[in-house]
Amino acid sequence: MTLPAEEAKKEFVQEKFSSVTPKYDFLNSLLSLYIDRYWRIRTAAVLKGRPGPVLDLCAGTLPLSREVFRQKERRILALDFCFDMLKYGRDRLASQGEKENILPVCGDGEALPLRDEIFTGFTVAFGIRNLADLPRGFSEVYRVLKPGGVAAILEFSRPSMPVFARLYRFYLHRVLPGVAGMISGDREAYRYLAESIEGFYSQEEVCAMMKDAGFRDVSFEPLTMGIVTIYTGIRP
Ligand SMILES: C[S@@+](CC[C@H](N)C(=O)[O-])C[C@H]1O[C@@H](n2cnc3c(N)ncnc32)[C@H](O)[C@@H]1O
Repeated sequence: MTLPAEEAKKEFVQEKFSSVTPKYDFLNSLLSLYIDRYWRIRTAAVLKGRPGPVLDLCAGTLPLSREVFRQKERRILALDFCFDMLKYGRDRLASQGEKENILPVCGDGEALPLRDEIFTGFTVAFGIRNLADLPRGFSEVYRVLKPGGVAAILEFSRPSMPVFARLYRFYLHRVLPGVAGMISGDREAYRYLAESIEGFYSQEEVCAMMKDAGFRDVSFEPLTMGIVTIYTGIRP
């Protein structure tokens, strides 16, 4: 599968997430052997000790927004450009506290419909890989963070241990599209997942882009043998 070029990518991504919405959370957990919850817990924990409003970008069905709220009750703006994902997530917001404090907004992460310097925290899980223009996305995030605000970014990465890397690639390209395609009814969406992980920037490249956007104290931590990585940075 050839990944869509920048122009076509937004439309393609929007359509794919719409198509898999009802099965998205179930498949996420199944395909990660339920480790995805732990990854989000670790990501939300980066904001520990920093109260104030948070932007959760590419929020989808709101699993990370809810984890951020569970760890510390605060206002969260959950932004995504796929209306179906947000609606599905909003309909599942359980407690009154969550409903009042997690605000889903349909919008583009590369052109945030928000004024400057609003948030003390920023989170995104499995979203930056999907942006058509990542440097632009980072500069938008930087713009809406207050000085001192912290960014916590969770994204798939590629394991570095050779034997495990080979097994993982086999799983990604041969097992995942078949299984997930059968359950979700959209095999192409999961072929896109595999290809977009393979084609994504290295950890060093992501950090360099964050620094170019203005972030300081940028660092990254691979988890679960490098299947995912958490990137952090601060707006000085
Ligand atoms: C893999 S899902 C992640 C959902 C959620 N954060 C999670 O932890 O499961 C990626 C989401 O990014 C959204 N997305 C991709 N590009 C976007 C953009 N430019 N602006 C806003 N949302 C975007 C998609 O609509 C999709 O819901």
